Amino acid sequence: MTAIPMYSKTPDDISIKARNVSFSIEELLSVDWADNDPFLTALFNAMSISFPSGEKNFIDSVRPFEKQIEDKKLLSEIKGFYKQEGIHSREHMKYNNLLCTQRGYDLGELESVYLKRIDEGKKNPKVTKKILLASTVAVEHFTASFGQCFLEGQFLRGLEGPLGNLWRWHSLEELEHKAVAFDVYSQVGGSFKMRKAVMRIVMITLLIDFLKVTLKMLRHDKQLWRWRTAKSMSKFFFSKRGFVRLLMPAYKDFFREDFHPWDEDSRELLMHWQEKLDPIMSAA
Ligand SMILES: [Fe+2]
Ligand SMILES: [Fe+2]
Repeated sequence: MTAIPMYSKTPDDISIKARNVSFSIEELLSVDWADNDPFLTALFNAMSISFPSGEKNFIDSVRPFEKQIEDKKLLSEIKGFYKQEGIHSREHMKYNNLLCTQRGYDLGELESVYLKRIDEGKKNPKVTKKILLASTVAVEHFTASFGQCFLEGQFLRGLEGPLGNLWRWHSLEELEHKAVAFDVYSQVGGSFKMRKAVMRIVMITLLIDFLKVTLKMLRHDKQLWRWRTAKSMSKFFFSKRGFVRLLMPAYKDFFREDFHPWDEDSRELLMHWQEKLDPIMSAA
């Protein structure tokens, strides 16, 4: 059995500080901004719709365990994590309102897909607070792995301007706080068995919900039954450079008993993007 680390394993030179940014993305969301590809655009927009409710849920799942944490470094990282997720949520709320106004989507209907899922979990008597925390650990691993691939330019490499900045800023902060929920889970005695089981369920439900919302958007835009959409969707699932296969190694990694999010040292990548984005972010 692997020893449980009772200290934060986020490197000392990583500071988890929220940047109070705002991006001028008006006018940009009415078009297929992701590689001029309706499916990819709808998929990224579907992820954005999930953030306000999802990020609130992350914060709510960590809070009940805060008083059990004695590690001062981790306690301060938890505060940074709440603030970062709070601002992500605020900015994606703006994004989602603009998106739905410009494209005529029903925001309530789209959000309800994710809200229903969160509600089901909270109302199920078998779902304990620790399981909710484990689900945050799982989704945080997904957002950090996604952020890593995005910052490495594995997808949407050419995305520039305010939308590129917004997605890179969010990815950057997801990488900075990638171990916070994980370290809380470890320090309060979360088991490997639960972590594995929850990850399996969370990844399937997350994928189903992202696709549900994506398909609703494509149907609204009359892009659902197009050859181009089918091609892009098949690339997403099956191509070597597609989303699913790009994220597969990170997903598999999570099933090692001694896994930790910082086994993948993202500091060089973070430093590169901090230097590039900080002037934009402080001016935003
Ligand atoms: Fe976030
Ligand atoms: Fe996060």
